[in-house]
Amino acid sequence: MLKRILFLIVGILAIGTVGFGVFAWRPSLAKVPQPTAASFSPALVRKGEVLASAGYCASCHTVRGGQPYAGGYAMATQFGTIYSTNITPDRKTGIGGWSEAAFERAMRQGVRRDGAHLFPAFPYDHFSKLTDSDVSALYAFMMTRAPVVADERNPTIPWPLNIRALQAGWKLLFFRPARFAPDATQSAEWNRGAYLAEGVSHCGACHTPRGSLGAEKRDQAYAGAAIDGWIAPSLGKTNSAPVPWSHDELVAYLSTGVSQYHGTAAGPMGAVSRSLSKLPPADVAAIATYFASRNGS
Ligand code: HEC
Ligand code: HEC
Repeated sequence: MLKRILFLIVGILAIGTVGFGVFAWRPSLAKVPQPTAASFSPALVRKGEVLASAGYCASCHTVRGGQPYAGGYAMATQFGTIYSTNITPDRKTGIGGWSEAAFERAMRQGVRRDGAHLFPAFPYDHFSKLTDSDVSALYAFMMTRAPVVADERNPTIPWPLNIRALQAGWKLLFFRPARFAPDATQSAEWNRGAYLAEGVSHCGACHTPRGSLGAEKRDQAYAGAAIDGWIAPSLGKTNSAPVPWSHDELVAYLSTGVSQYHGTAAGPMGAVSRSLSKLPPADVAAIATYFASRNGS
């Protein structure tokens, strides 16, 4: 009897493990010949450059004083340190052999070219909202950067949390991949702002509180959160600034890092505003419209 029960338990565990393995498995996508710079239109590369600024790719993928986009930047999480990767088009240590399909899968689903799951310190949960043409533009921009040889640094996350396949479970619980869905009751400008804020500019990655497993709490969007020893304040009605964040103050702060009533953007927000300063003024105005409507100013 006991033997049978044990057999049953072992059987269930084995099926569970195999089942999870199948569920977590993603194919490795073959390396492709390096696309030449001439295969991308200059307009597409330029569009990708603006999007890379809107998504602060360089902030996270460059170490202080290091080569742009060569990775190795340390991100402390509650579980350990994760290092960003080399996203220059070096064929061996970067993304040089990646097809656009592999790049698109990484950006939208958080899966590496070799099929391994990426950690959500890389904000793919926001990048999943990107349009196809914006993903193409980012690919064109990255593939036309100077290739840099820089090996990946392994995360210091302890076993078993470092098992990348387990990220499939995290995704099942928290990841809801979806393209941006415009709100028909709002203006085109509001929707442009929402698209940038929710997607490539991932404002919620710092301004939305996270649960114990590190996922943003959807029902507390932009309610304010602690990040890298800083407080990213609420961007909604609960913002405690004595003077409300009007549209114009948001534009000034986001594009120059300074607001006459609210002072200077410091810490991680300083890097954000330096990056956003490279956006077309209409895009910054759109982000401001979105948040002015959220905070009711
Ligand atoms: C908040 C920090 C952060 C930002 C912003 C960020 N990344 Fe990353 N990215 C990471 C980290 C960390 C990893 C590695 C995750 C891992 O090892 O699981 C990563 C991995 C990647 C990968 C997978 C590469 C590989 O070799 O596995 C690609 C592609 C990528 N990022 C592209 C981008 C692009 C393009 C942007 C800008 C639109 C961007 N990232 C912005 C942190 C960031
Ligand atoms: C990398 C993390 C990070 C990201 C991404 C980020 N912020 Fe911030 N933000 C912060 C931090 C930290 C502060 C506090 C800065 C300070 O104390 O000077 C802040 C401050 C602000 C403030 C001032 C609030 C106040 O009451 O003082 C506004 C407004 C703001 N952010 C808007 C945005 C918007 C809009 C986006 C997206 C386009 C964004 N932030 C993306 C971290 C971030």
